Order: sequence, then structure tokens, then C-alpha cells
Amino acid sequence: MSRIELDQLGRAGDLGALAHYADPAYYDKAYASRREDVAYYRELALRVGGPVLEYGVGTGRLALPMARAGVEVQGVDLSKAMLAQLRARLVKESPEVRARLRVAKGDMRRWKSDRRFQLVIAGFNTVLHLYTRRDVEAFFARVQQLLTPRGRFVFDFGLTRPEDLALTPGRDYSGMRLRDPASGKLVKYSERFEYDPVRQVQLCWLQFAPVDGSPGWSVPLTHRHFFPQEMEALLHYAGFRDIEMTADFQDLPLSRTADWVVVSCRGPRR
Ligand SMILES: C[S@@+](CC[C@H](N)C(=O)[O-])C[C@H]1O[C@@H](n2cnc3c(N)ncnc32)[C@H](O)[C@@H]1O
Repeated sequence: MSRIELDQLGRAGDLGALAHYADPAYYDKAYASRREDVAYYRELALRVGGPVLEYGVGTGRLALPMARAGVEVQGVDLSKAMLAQLRARLVKESPEVRARLRVAKGDMRRWKSDRRFQLVIAGFNTVLHLYTRRDVEAFFARVQQLLTPRGRFVFDFGLTRPEDLALTPGRDYSGMRLRDPASGKLVKYSERFEYDPVRQVQLCWLQFAPVDGSPGWSVPLTHRHFFPQEMEALLHYAGFRDIEMTADFQDLPLSRTADWVVVSCRGPRR
């Protein structure tokens, strides 16, 4: 992929928002060790009860364990490739699980349904694909429309630290060697970052260099950074109530040592 510039990225549904998800086999391999959020959302769904709406359902990393535990889940995602992988995984599930987990292609800012959901979630940085205030407003309006009157909206995103934004542009931050699931090749993986402090959008190039010297490839991934106080204000002024922020899927108070901000709130009183 030829390199495109940060200024050309940072729009919902564009290459920076979706290219990383065009390779679901790599996605599943890269994040297979993330387990705490899976257990957290599964327990939450059992406690709050379904039906659950998951925005950015992806390959079902969070949704499948909820459905296997007996909770009805509606998943929505904009990536055809991620949904194809989820549908392929569903084929191998029992008829009961298949009946419990429904999947739709849609944009989280626009997707509509006549159903109402007791729990609405957006896990693992999905909200970082909302790049502008208008994106956030459109998304929050959909959430409020689709929540039951006593329903809960829960999502998480990585806690941004100054050093995350001060990574040197043009420098390769080396990672490990890994086996690329699509080509079967051993590749050296590294990352390159660039940050736009005005739009609060960070571009990360995920770079793959086969160790056999054959041509490599790079994939852009853009995240809008949200700061906890900013997110709290956005939710508050959109009318959400009982806003709580906890740390790292442990239900501990959010502290400066946290890695993950977990947000829980309710919609406006009707
Ligand atoms: C980091 S993944 C999370 C996937 C899954 N929830 C998990 O925890 O593994 C973010 C997901 O958001 C989806 N996404 C990005 N922009 C979207 C949009 N505007 N509307 C709906 N889904 C979107 C991506 O396709 C991707 O599957």
C-alpha cells in the first residue's frame, strides 16, 4: 500500500478506520491474548441481562462468549471482512448460539433497529474510530435511541499518556517476529507513529517485513484520542447519567496507573 498522509485520514469509515480490519486472521492472532475484557463483558452481560447490542462487534471476540453464556447479542460492524470471519466462526457454533448472536453490517453513527437493548457496548477502542464531534454526537444519539429506559451503555478505550503522543515521527518502533497467518511467512513487525494535536488523531503504520527479504507491507490505523475528562464532558452534555469510569476491567476506581478506561452510564431520563 502506498503511503498516504495523516492529513488525508481521520474520517469515519476511511482507510485508517478499516484497513487494519481487512485481515481478520491477523487481527484474531494479534489479540488472542487479550482475555480480561472478554471475561468482563461476559460477566456484565450476565449481570445486566440481554439483549446486548455490540457496536464494532468485529470477529466476535467479545460477542461469542456472551452468546455462549446464554445472552442474546446483536452485533454491528462496518468491516465486511470482520463480519465474514464472524459468520464463518458462527457456522461452527451450536444452533442455540447461532440463534442468539445476530450480525448486521452498519455504521455505528447510523445503524437503526426497532429493538431496544438492555446493554449497549463498544469494546476495545471501537469509539476511537469516531473522529469528530459530529461523529460522537451521531453515535451517542443512536445509543440513546436504542437503549431501554433502564439500560446501560458501557465501553472502553486506552488511557492516553503524554509519551504515547510524543513518539518520534519517522522512527520505527520495533516489535517482535511473528508468523503472518495469510502468507505463512515469518515477518519482522514494527510500528511508526504520527500525531495531529489539533484533531487529536494518531496514525500508526503497522509494518510487516518478511525475514526472507521479499517485499513487505504496511497498514494504516488511525485513532482519535479521547481524554477521560473530555469523554466525561461529552457524555454529560449529551444527557447521559450515572457516568462512572473504572480501570482495567477490574471495577477499580480509575487511577493514573490504569491502562484501560472503562466507562459505564445510563441514558437520559424519559
Ligand atoms: C478494535 S476492533 C474491536 C472488535 C471487537 N469488539 C473486539 O473487541 O475484538 C474495532 C471494530 O470497530 C469497527 N468499526 C470501525 N469503524 C466503525 C464504524 N464507523 N461503525 C461500525 N463499526 C466500526 C471495525 O471494523 C472493528 O471491527
